[in-house]
Formats: sequence, C-alpha cells, structure tokens
Amino acid sequence: MEVNTLREVLLIDIYDHHIAQKFINRSGLAHAIAVAYHAFHLAIEREVDPDIATKAGFLHDIGHFTWYKNGKWDYDLYKQNDIHAIKGAERAHKLLIRLGENPVKAKEIALAILFHTDSFLPSNEIVRTPLQQVVKSADEKDEEEGGMHHYRTIDKERARKSLNRLDKMIEETMKKST
Ligand SMILES: [Fe+2]
Repeated sequence: MEVNTLREVLLIDIYDHHIAQKFINRSGLAHAIAVAYHAFHLAIEREVDPDIATKAGFLHDIGHFTWYKNGKWDYDLYKQNDIHAIKGAERAHKLLIRLGENPVKAKEIALAILFHTDSFLPSNEIVRTPLQQVVKSADEKDEEEGGMHHYRTIDKERARKSLNRLDKMIEETMKKST
C-alpha cells in the first residue's frame, strides 16, 4: 500500500467515521460529494489548497438539524431556527481533530464551513478569503430549486469510489506542487 505523506486525513477516512455517516447522510451524501468535486476544481482554478477546499466542501452541511413537524420537513421552522453553518463548523472540527487532522487545516476547514452560507448572518457584508469563497461557490453550483439537492441519492459503493477517486486527484495535484 502506498504511504500517504502529504495528507493526514483522507476523504475516505472522514466518510468511514460514524459521525460522518450519521450526519452527512442527513443532508445528502450525493450533494456532499458533488460539492467536494466542485470545490476541488474551483480550488485548482483559484489556486487555493485543494485538500482543505474538498474537505470543507464534503463536510459543509454536516451541521444540519432535521426540522420536522408532524412527520414533514418544516421549511419555516428551518428558516427561523437554522444554525447549520455554526453547528457544522464545530462538528466538522471535532471530527477532523479526532481523525488526526493537522489543527491549522482543521481550523481553516471549520471557518470555511462557518462562512459557506449567509443564511444565519445578520447581514451579508462579510468578506471571505479565497478558500471560503471556493466552498460557498461550490455549494451554489450544486444547488437545486426547492432544496432538492439534499434529496439526491447515491449508493454506498459509488460513494466510496467517487471519494477514492477524488482522494487520488488531490494527492496527484499536491505531489505536483511540492
Ligand atoms: Fe449545501
């Protein structure tokens, strides 16, 4: 097996952790993977760290809570009370540190998750770093009307293959730049 020296944690390590299994499925695994891929391509285009960008993309919605009322998703409840960016930043950070992520990267990923949406902010005047903008744009690229992007499905086998493939793409890019 090839020894990985460039990255402490792989996307597939994150995927395999039970915390990710529980919370990423909640907001849509297919969406999480699609956003990770968009984040990768945007990161290359805008010259930001693809490892950090893809991890933030993959984990950006990990803070979602299920706002159900009488067995149905209640969009008004969600709009009023949602703090998924805040919760996601913290949850992703905890998960990454547990997996042995470099703490500098873990903080950058957490901040990119915190600022990936304006929905909880009192105004949208925040100035994002290029990395934070990459994650926000990656999410917007995969958005579908009525929040349908959260309901697309992907089977486990395909999910694993997609993440392994993306891990390899990140590794290759990082090798080239060292
Ligand atoms: Fe999203």
